Amino acid sequence: MPARPPLIRLSGVSKQFGSVRALEDISLEIPAGEIHGIVGPSGAGKSTLIRCLTGLEPPTSGEVQIAGTRIDGLRGAALRRARRSIGMVFQDVHLLSSRTAAGNVSHPLEVAGAGRAEREGRVAELLELVGLADRADSYPAQLSGGQQQRVGIARALATRPPVLLCDEPTSALDAETTRQILDLLRRLRDRLGITVVVITHEPSVVREACDSVTLLDRGRVAQSGGLLDVVTSGDTPLARALVPLPPSDPDRAGRLVAVSLGGSAQVRSARDVLAVLDAAGIPAEIAAATLETIDGHRVGRLQLEVADSDAAERVTDLLSGQGLAAEVAA
Ligand SMILES: Nc1ncnc2c1ncn2[C@@H]1O[C@H](COP(=O)(O)OP(=O)(O)OP(=O)(O)O)[C@@H](O)[C@H]1O
Ligand SMILES: [Mg+2]
Repeated sequence: MPARPPLIRLSGVSKQFGSVRALEDISLEIPAGEIHGIVGPSGAGKSTLIRCLTGLEPPTSGEVQIAGTRIDGLRGAALRRARRSIGMVFQDVHLLSSRTAAGNVSHPLEVAGAGRAEREGRVAELLELVGLADRADSYPAQLSGGQQQRVGIARALATRPPVLLCDEPTSALDAETTRQILDLLRRLRDRLGITVVVITHEPSVVREACDSVTLLDRGRVAQSGGLLDVVTSGDTPLARALVPLPPSDPDRAGRLVAVSLGGSAQVRSARDVLAVLDAAGIPAEIAAATLETIDGHRVGRLQLEVADSDAAERVTDLLSGQGLAAEVAA
């Protein structure tokens, strides 16, 4: 099957604010129909990256393309036209308080000059899509935070953009409402074929909603890839962030070996791992372990404690030979 063409493409994007390098040589391709997470510590450049994607912030160098159109460098009417292909959702929804849910969703259609019949049809369709058909006449103050965010999403999709950018869309919501909003994003992707970029500081949002993920660190791409790949490929920053281990005993005497479970290896469970080591006559304990379900797959990370460095080397060789990502922990 041919690879899907990237809908979003950044090539060598850098952004300098005075002496601050907010983004440094970012290259990234996001295929059409994918939900892509952008994570990273505060100040890593996540919001700057989103602003470059919307054309709000011209990069200092590099190119930004959306659906084959270069966004960087556009001005005036051309930029406004290009921006119509991008829907935006923020942590703070900023609905117009004097307008009903339907009135809010209708607003971008009015701005785009759509006629009344078209607007009404589209608004009804969108409110149905986000599960708020019965709240069309409610004002924002009469809606819960999750319902307001749904209106915000419907509004962002009003002009049928192929791309939806979400900056911390669930940070203000509780766990259950967050799950509903993430479900909605996946459903909208399935129904409409949109490409979604989600900026978040919550690993659970990436685990539950994203197909692929990029970790930004001090303006650079530290790691990027498909979700299953990045969590099963070893003791990497994204694996540590997305499948965090509980702290192991600081007074331990032995050496630790980090093992990823859930890749294509035959050895699939912690019990399998211990059986392999047992058969080789290497005593080992599980010092810490985490299991998560990602994209319907059970994935996990283990920290094994073995007697000394020699044993740790033998364990990594043995498990690597079985196709597992295993490495001696620092
Ligand atoms: N308009 C600006 N002028 C000067 N510096 C800026 C500007 N915008 C961002 N920066 C700097 O660029 C860097 C990246 O900022 P950015 O807002 O993109 O980070 P972030 O990853 O979104 O952080 P957070 O998680 O706190 O929202 C920071 O060092 C920030 O101070
Ligand atoms: Mg930010």
